[in-house]
Parts: sequence; C-alpha cells; structure tokens
Amino acid sequence: MADHTDTTATTATATATGRSRAVPVRLLLLLVLLLPLPQIRAFCPSKCQCLGGEANSRALCVDAALEDVPIQLNPETKYINLTLNRIRNLEFSLPFYMKLEILDLSQNIIETLGSKNFEYQSELRTLNLSRNLVSSLHKHAFKGLTNLLLLDLGYNRIETVHPTALGDLASLVELDLTNNNIVSLEDNCFKGMAALEVLVFRNNRLLDVPASNLWHLHALKSLDMSDNLVEFVRNDSFEGLKDLLALSLRGNVMSELDGSAFEGLISLKHLDLADNNLTVVPTQQLAKLSNLTYLNLGGNRFAHLPAVAFLNLFHLRELHLSRLDYLQRIDSR
Ligand SMILES: *[C@@H]1O[C@H](CO)[C@@H](O)[C@H](O)[C@H]1NC(C)=O
Ligand SMILES: *[C@@H]1O[C@H](CO)[C@@H](O)[C@H](O)[C@H]1NC(C)=O
Ligand SMILES: *[C@@H]1O[C@H](CO)[C@@H](O)[C@H](O)[C@H]1NC(C)=O
Ligand SMILES: *[C@@H]1O[C@H](CO)[C@@H](O)[C@H](O)[C@H]1NC(C)=O
Ligand SMILES: *[C@@H]1O[C@H](CO)[C@@H](O)[C@H](O)[C@H]1NC(C)=O
Repeated sequence: MADHTDTTATTATATATGRSRAVPVRLLLLLVLLLPLPQIRAFCPSKCQCLGGEANSRALCVDAALEDVPIQLNPETKYINLTLNRIRNLEFSLPFYMKLEILDLSQNIIETLGSKNFEYQSELRTLNLSRNLVSSLHKHAFKGLTNLLLLDLGYNRIETVHPTALGDLASLVELDLTNNNIVSLEDNCFKGMAALEVLVFRNNRLLDVPASNLWHLHALKSLDMSDNLVEFVRNDSFEGLKDLLALSLRGNVMSELDGSAFEGLISLKHLDLADNNLTVVPTQQLAKLSNLTYLNLGGNRFAHLPAVAFLNLFHLRELHLSRLDYLQRIDSR
C-alpha cells in the first residue's frame, strides 16, 4: 500500500516537472494568481527576516543574493526591503502585494522596469529604485502608483523618459533623478505631477533648462539642476514656479543669461550659480529676485565687480564670491 502511494506520488511529480517545462512560466504564475487569497500561505524565505503580525507585516531581505522578488511572503505585507540583491526584473511578482506601502529595490541589477509592473500598488508611498541599471522609462512604467510620495531613481542609466511614464504620479512629492544620462526631455513628461515639491536632476547631461516641462510643476519648492551642461538660460525658463524657494544651477557651463532668465521666481530665497562660466555679474537678472537671502556666484570668470552689481537684493544675508580666479578689480562701493 505504502509502495503504491509512493509510486503515484513520483509519477505525479514527474508529470508536473515535465509539464512545467512545456507550459510557459507566465501561465503558471497566472494560475497561482487565480487561487483564492486565503489559500496562499505566507512564508518567509530563509534569507529574509519577516517581522510583525498579519496587519503590520514587514519583510527584510537585505543582501540575500535574491534574483527575483519573492512571491511567497505574506500578501498583507506593507514593507519589503530588497536592497543589495541581484534582482534583474520585476515581472509578475508585485501583484501579490496589494497593501505594500514601502518598497526598497535599490542596489540591484534591474535593467528595465517594464510596463504596468506596479499596477496594483495603489497604496505604495515610497519606492526606491536607486543604484540599478535602468536605461529608459517606458509608457506605463509607473502606472497605478497614484499615491506614491517618494520616488528615487538616482544612480541609474536613464536616457529616455516616455512622455506618459510619470503621468500617474499625481501625489508624488519628491523625485530624485541624480546621476543619470538625461540630455533632454520630451514635452509633457511632468504633466500630472501637480504635487511635486522636490526635483533633483543633479549630474545628468541636460543642455537646456527643460522649461516646458517645469511649467507643469506648480507646487515645486526646490529644484537642483547642478552638474549638467546648460550653457544658456532663456527668458522665462522658470515661469510658473512661483513657490520655488531654492534653485541650484551650480556646476554647469553657463556663460550668459537672458535678461529675464529668472522671471517669475517671486519666492526664491536660495540661488546657487557657482562654478559656471559667467564673465559678467547678472545684475539685471538678479534684480527681480527681491526675496533672495542666499546667493553663490563663486567659481565664475568675472573680471570685475561693478558698483551696483547687487541691485535690489535687500534681503540678501549670504553672498559667496570665492574662487574668482579671473577677478582684477572690485569697485569700492
Ligand atoms: C533597507 O535596508 C537598508 C539596510 O538595512 C537600510 O539602510 C534602508 O534604509 C532600508 N530601506 C528602507 C526603505 O527602509
Ligand atoms: C535609496 O537607497 C539608496 C541606496 O540603498 C540610499 O542611499 C538612498 O538614501 C535611498 N533613498 C531614499 C529617498 O531614502
Ligand atoms: C529677454 O528679455 C529681455 C527683457 O527682460 C529682452 O530685452 C530680451 O530681448 C529678451 N530676449 C529674448 C531672446 O527674447
Ligand atoms: C517676499 O518677501 C516679503 C517680505 O519678507 C514678503 O512679504 C513677501 O510675501 C515675499 N514674497 C513672496 C512671493 O514670498
Ligand atoms: C567653461 O569653462 C571651462 C573651464 O572653466 C572651459 O574648459 C570650457 O570650455 C568653458 N565652456 C564654455 C561653453 O564656455
């Protein structure tokens, strides 16, 4: 009797194995998805640490040599930390976790975010994808993330952003794109991100201020475009950013600014123009920024500082003028 059962079991296993080679992985995953939820047993992979009860479960799978997002964790889990693994793609793994609020996928080897992989994560607040190998953001890359507040895409290889890729991020407050390869953006990439307050574009290859995109960011408070390749700032580049408090254009190659380059920045308090190629103090452009308290013009190529170089800046408290290697003359006034 025992022998008979064993044989049956072996046959069944063999059949299952044989079939799983033939049936696409996709279909198997779909079958698992279709099982009623209570039948999916929460399980903690040996390399993960699962904490908390049903209602507040958290999974830490840090530096665990994982190549995929584990699909057998508690479906109620709100926090999954997968930093420092070898995850390459996100297909068919996230629909299991519809209650997820925080997801850390930083320091993996993700090359593409694919399409609609976050479609069921309407509760997600924080998504860290920094230090991966992502090179472009497709049409529906972030579809469904309507409540996301923080998105870190720093230290990837992003070159292209589809105009609708960021379109669902209506609640996003902070977007970090530090250290990518973006040269320019198509129009309307930022349309729909009406809540965005902090945008970090540090160390990309922008040749121009993406004015037609910034125009959509009515709530923006801080914009960091340092270490890019901007040569010239056109009139009205920042028009519409009436709540902007801090702007950094440090470390670009600007040699000139249009007369109304800073028009519309009525709230600006902090402006960093250090380490550029400016040869003349942009007196006229700065004169519109009457609420400025901090100004850094260090590391530029001014030959002289004229008498009324800082006209109208009545609230200025800090003025940095270090490393002016070309300076020959300062007006005593
Ligand atoms: C994930 O874990 C790492 C290592 O412990 C930690 O530094 C990081 O802050 C965690 N991420 C989140 C979002 O809590
Ligand atoms: C995202 O993860 C990286 C590396 O793990 C970390 O340095 C960074 O601070 C995280 N971002 C946020 C917004 O917490
Ligand atoms: C920029 O605006 C200034 C007035 O502030 C004007 O003199 C200049 O011609 C404008 N530049 C361009 C390229 O339109
Ligand atoms: C500029 O500063 C003045 C005085 O501090 C303040 O009354 C005004 O509201 C400020 N303007 C903006 C747009 O913040
Ligand atoms: C800017 O200045 C650097 C040196 O500080 C120089 O090598 C570069 O050619 C200049 N670029 C432009 C566009 O003027």
